[in-house]
Amino acid sequence: MAGIPAVSCKQVSKVWNPDGASPLLALDELSFEVARGEFVVLLGPSGCGKSTLLYMIAGLESTTSGTIESDMLPVTGPSSDRGMIFQEASLFPWLTLADNVTFGLGLRGMSPELRRDVASKILKKVGLGDMLDKRPEELSGGMRQRVAVARALAMQPMVLMMDEPFAALDVQTRAKMQDFLLQIWRDSGASIILVTHSIEEAISLADRIVVFTSRPGRVKKDIRIDLERPRNPRDPAYRRLEEELSDLLADEVDRAFADQQRSEAGNQSA
Ligand SMILES: Nc1ncnc2c1ncn2[C@@H]1O[C@H](COP(=O)(O)OP(=O)(O)OP(=O)(O)O)[C@@H](O)[C@H]1O
Ligand SMILES: [Mg+2]
Repeated sequence: MAGIPAVSCKQVSKVWNPDGASPLLALDELSFEVARGEFVVLLGPSGCGKSTLLYMIAGLESTTSGTIESDMLPVTGPSSDRGMIFQEASLFPWLTLADNVTFGLGLRGMSPELRRDVASKILKKVGLGDMLDKRPEELSGGMRQRVAVARALAMQPMVLMMDEPFAALDVQTRAKMQDFLLQIWRDSGASIILVTHSIEEAISLADRIVVFTSRPGRVKKDIRIDLERPRNPRDPAYRRLEEELSDLLADEVDRAFADQQRSEAGNQSA
C-alpha cells in the first residue's frame, strides 16, 4: 500500500450558496496530497477555507468541482476511516467518558463489555485511565480535548482531521497536548491533518506545512520540515522557518484585509 496517498485533493473548488444572491468562492482549484502516516498542518488567514476543506475531506460537505479521494476511493460521505475533531470538543454531556469514547463502536454493534474494555485501554493512552465513569462537565478543557482525541482513535481511523484543536487551551496545556498528540500519532500510524493559526504549533508538529492564500484558498506554499523532533525554537533552522512562515502569512492577511476594504467601499458606493 506504500505510495498510495491517504488523502488526495485534485483541483477542488467550493462555492458556498451557489444559487443564492451572493455565491462565495471559498476554495479555488486546490490540489494537495497527504501520504500515509504523514502529519500535515494547514496554515492560512482566517476565512481562507481551511475548515471548509476539512469538512469536505471528512465527507460532511460536497465539493463544487474537483475530486477528493481517500485511499484511492472517491469521498462521497463520512466514514469511520476519516475521523474529525472540532475546535470545541463536542462530547455528549449526558454520557460517561467510557460511553463517549466508544459511542461509534456501539453504533457498529460492539457489545457493552467489549466497549468498556476498549474505552479503558484508550482512555489510559490519553492519560485518563481512571476516569471511565466521569462525565465531561467534571473535566478541564484540556482533558475534554483528550477524550475527543480518544473517541476519534477508538474508530482506528486512517486519517485524523483536527480543526484548531488546542486553540482554547492555555500555553502550558497546549504544549503538553502537542507532545501527547505526537506520541499518539506515532503509535497509531494514522495520517493527521491539523489546522492551526499558530506558527509555533505548526513547526513543532508538522512533517509538512501547507500555507494557504487568502480566500479563495489555494496552496501558496508547501513546506517539508526535516528537523528532528522534539524541535527546538532556538535552533536557527526553526527560526528561519518561523520567519518565512510569518512573512508568507503576513502577505496573505494584508491581501485579505485590502480585499475586504475594497468590497466595503464598493458596497457603500453602490
Ligand atoms: N456553511 C457555510 N455557508 C456559507 N458560507 C460559508 C459556510 N462555511 C464557511 N463559509 C464561508 O467560506 C469561507 C471560508 O470559511 P472557513 O470556515 O472554511 O474558513 P477558515 O479558513 O476555516 O477560517 P478560520 O481560520 O477563521 O477558521 C468564509 O468566507 C466563510 O464565510
Ligand atoms: Mg476554520
